[in-house]
Amino acid sequence: MATILVSGGTGFIGKYIVQQLCQLGYRVRVPSRNPQKKRSFCDLSCEFLAGDLSELSFARKCCSGIDAVIHLVGILVEQGQETYKKVHVQITKNMIQASKENGVRRFLHMSSLGTRPQAKSRYHQTKWTAEELVRNSELDWTIFQPSVVFGIGDDFTKRLYKMLLFQNNPLLIFPLIEGGKSKLQPIFVENVAEAFVRALPNPSTFHKIYPLTGPEIFSLKEIMMLILEQAHLAYKIEDIPFYTLMRMGLILLSFFIYPLAALKALSQNWKGELWAIYLFSWLLFLQLLQKNMKKRLLFSLPSNIAFPLVRVAEKLIKNPPLTQDVLLMMLEDNVADSSEAVSTLNLKLVSFKRVLPDILDSLSL
Ligand SMILES: NC(=O)c1ccc[n+]([C@@H]2O[C@H](COP(=O)([O-])OP(=O)(O)OC[C@H]3O[C@@H](n4cnc5c(N)ncnc54)[C@H](OP(=O)(O)O)[C@@H]3O)[C@@H](O)[C@H]2O)c1
Repeated sequence: MATILVSGGTGFIGKYIVQQLCQLGYRVRVPSRNPQKKRSFCDLSCEFLAGDLSELSFARKCCSGIDAVIHLVGILVEQGQETYKKVHVQITKNMIQASKENGVRRFLHMSSLGTRPQAKSRYHQTKWTAEELVRNSELDWTIFQPSVVFGIGDDFTKRLYKMLLFQNNPLLIFPLIEGGKSKLQPIFVENVAEAFVRALPNPSTFHKIYPLTGPEIFSLKEIMMLILEQAHLAYKIEDIPFYTLMRMGLILLSFFIYPLAALKALSQNWKGELWAIYLFSWLLFLQLLQKNMKKRLLFSLPSNIAFPLVRVAEKLIKNPPLTQDVLLMMLEDNVADSSEAVSTLNLKLVSFKRVLPDILDSLSL
């Protein structure tokens, strides 16, 4: 049986692909920068190599004696030295070169839906550059472009759920950027894994690009509502436009501004600014409003206000909940027709609604 290198095999999607390959009897090699991750692959008969694929010598080592590469390495958020350019472009370049030097012809590449020339986000721009490297490589390549991927272990549902659970959100208010109107077509992780595994030996998929999308289209707001319902967080969503909240906040401000101004006058060293007083009273007001209504409060935040807030958060917080690049992607629709992949690879698409209870169960364990 052929030996397959799965770069990114330790990640969320990679683990499902590795599992399916092992079940089919393939020999699988998994590289990782973190030797500790070897433990989670003990049950599977695969070879684990510790190292960093941004070093060409390690990429060469990984590609020696293999028959195909499934290249999944990618990051959604840049952190320190781990930039999009390094992880998406440089590592793809290394993998292509190492494949060629080792005579490996088959190369399956993980891209992302929305990847295109002149994309707004740098995530998509660098994914596009990586795709171009693959397309121009003269290898027997296949490229997959999934929309957001869901399943047990996914980061997408986990983040939304944790946020709605308000463990870290004492205010119980949730901004929906531009009303959470942008559309998504989430695809089940097992379907993504099947697409890779079935395309692997199939020459009709050579030099093809397949968008991978699920059977349902949701807005981000609809997804949040589904999570709330499914998790029995029985709160009615109050969709108050941001500017209405601002007006209500301003009315409330008049109740706070005078005592606080008096306090400022009393304390000479107090450096409170007007905007801080306003923000404080406004947040307090939202909290009171929410408490009175006994419901989670989702409000529409215009993107021209969200961007400066996210910019400040990126400067102040090490792992901010949102980055400008992710925000740019959140504002775009992420839907496509995946009928070609479905028919060629015989995929039976699984619905988000069906798997959501299992994902939430796994999160509350
Ligand atoms: N999840 C989604 O919804 C989604 C949607 C569309 C496209 N994608 C794409 O699918 C791929 C996999 O996504 P995922 O959600 O499974 O990601 P993930 O769970 O974050 O896993 C990322 C993988 O990339 C590897 N990696 C990251 N930086 C690396 C580096 N500098 N050197 C070597 N390996 C590195 C990690 O390996 P180690 O940490 O073990 O070294 C890990 O195996 C990515 O390319 C992503 O852009 C994901």
